[in-house]
Amino acid sequence: MSTKQILALLNSHIDGDEDQLLSIALQIAAQEARQGRADDAEKLKRLVQKARDQRHVGKPAGGQTPIPLARPRGELQGLVESAYPKVTLSSMVLSDDIAARLGRIVRQQQERATLREHGQTPATHMLLVGLPGTGKTMTASALAGELRLPLFTVRLEALFSRFFGETAGKMRLLFDQIAQTRGVYLLDEFDAIGARRGDPNDVGEIRRVLNSVLAFMEEPNSTDSLVLAATNHVEILDEALARRFDEVIEYTLPDVAAARAIVERRLGKFKFAAKAWPALETALEGLSQGELVRAADAVVKDAILEGASKASPEALQRALENRQTLKGKFRRQSSR
Ligand SMILES: Nc1ncnc2c1ncn2[C@@H]1O[C@H](COP(=O)(O)OP(=O)(O)O)[C@@H](O)[C@H]1O
Ligand SMILES: [Mg+2]
Repeated sequence: MSTKQILALLNSHIDGDEDQLLSIALQIAAQEARQGRADDAEKLKRLVQKARDQRHVGKPAGGQTPIPLARPRGELQGLVESAYPKVTLSSMVLSDDIAARLGRIVRQQQERATLREHGQTPATHMLLVGLPGTGKTMTASALAGELRLPLFTVRLEALFSRFFGETAGKMRLLFDQIAQTRGVYLLDEFDAIGARRGDPNDVGEIRRVLNSVLAFMEEPNSTDSLVLAATNHVEILDEALARRFDEVIEYTLPDVAAARAIVERRLGKFKFAAKAWPALETALEGLSQGELVRAADAVVKDAILEGASKASPEALQRALENRQTLKGKFRRQSSR
């Protein structure tokens, strides 16, 4: 432990800032772990957990103490968006398989103390793969909502274009925050790392970033932050990278039943009679979850403004067909 760290510990003790004190202790734990002293790291982490648990004794049951809004500090400001999502997994329409896998992640996080007692660690790194609008961002929000954790989002492509040459340093800052502040971290546009390999303007930057990401993924995560990497293109991702994720979840376009469920939920009280649905099947097919939600929203707005108590199936049909046409246009353009 360095003198700097002892000073920081004493200062937070003098200020009565226990959060700060514990967060420094966790940083030291992470450092110990990095230097191969897993036992010491583990002891520190347990003590921090114990201190945190004791603080909650005597507080109202239900764990509903409000978390202060965590904001990225200093240089990370403007690169990382923070939010406290209210959505949960039950607000998503998911296949049984994906629902089960996400449920397992939540459970491992919630019961991580039990896992640790048995020498296990909760899953923390996930790769979310799928076309735009299939629910990757929503999954990140829902996981944060379930765990009552802040959601921090970083768009990697934007980071690369704004800070080319300094990206590796910025990533390091981000990894430090992940180690210090427990939260759900969404590394969006993750393929930016893969896509830019072989870029003629690259002066080893991508390699450095990739290496720092790889190293980071091997480090034990001292705060049990969840790290979610999202990408639309799996094919350009490095295999070495993909192998390091605890879970890889692939999102697909919804089948007709799921599409109907998404639209019906979105229509809410404007939902129309069940017998109208079979005629809508063709229009539902091939649209992403996001496109379905947009079509449903358009129809709900019309119904509100027209003072109708139910949405009309014909209006929904038209809205879905509009989405289909738009989609067709873009597909033609991108295959040129
Ligand atoms: N599984 C789902 N269940 C219900 N709605 C969904 C689902 N997936 C996506 N949506 C809707 O589609 C919108 C776009 O999804 P999003 O998560 O932003 O897609 P991605 O990040 O994969 O591009 C969401 O805001 C949400 O309204
Ligand atoms: Mg997204």
